[in-house]
Amino acid sequence: MKKAFVILLTALAMIGCKSPQNAAPGALDVIMTRTSIRAFTGEPVPQEQLEVILKAGMAAPSAINIQPWRFVVVTDQEKIADIFGKGPRSGMFTTAGAVIVVCGETDKTFWYEDCSAAAENILLAAHALGYGAVWTAGYPAMERIAPICEALSIPEGVQPLCIIPVGVPAENPEPKDKWKAENVHWNQW
Ligand SMILES: Cc1cc2nc3c(=O)[nH]c(=O)nc-3n(C[C@H](O)[C@H](O)[C@H](O)COP(=O)(O)O)c2cc1C
Repeated sequence: MKKAFVILLTALAMIGCKSPQNAAPGALDVIMTRTSIRAFTGEPVPQEQLEVILKAGMAAPSAINIQPWRFVVVTDQEKIADIFGKGPRSGMFTTAGAVIVVCGETDKTFWYEDCSAAAENILLAAHALGYGAVWTAGYPAMERIAPICEALSIPEGVQPLCIIPVGVPAENPEPKDKWKAENVHWNQW
């Protein structure tokens, strides 16, 4: 119900505002309906779909276009279980079709920001294709990322910013309404 309301509002906003002729139809809908998915069916995500998702990641803005992002995509289920299958919330990894580790070259000044933009694009692309995904924290939680770096042979000077399980959703949570007018200051704080 709430989802339908968000879609209706988005559609009305798109009709109401004077969008440029080439505005991507449905982009706002994808943004407004994305939500974190933490349970998956275990079905694989085909490589072609993963490549579309990664292309979306690499389409993100990047300071002076340095593109400091690197991605490790783990699709081997045994490997996923070995590396990410420990701990109370490991089900979101072990039921995923793939795990994308978004890494950055840490000697690049804006690596953190660039990789965050790439990660958000990945979440949105996964959702646009009908998959679910969730951003899980990596850097700077060294205790989390050190074993991942070792298991995946991630070289020195590269750190995993976040770890994103992607898969066919096995849950259907409502997107959260995060609009807060009080967080916006028009013209002056
Ligand atoms: C920097 C960052 C770290 C996060 N870390 C985790 C995490 O470790 N585990 C998890 O389940 N979700 C994690 N999340 C997802 C947030 O919990 C989620 O985005 C938030 O609750 C809002 O929900 P939504 O994504 O459905 O809008 C993280 C999100 C961000 C941006």
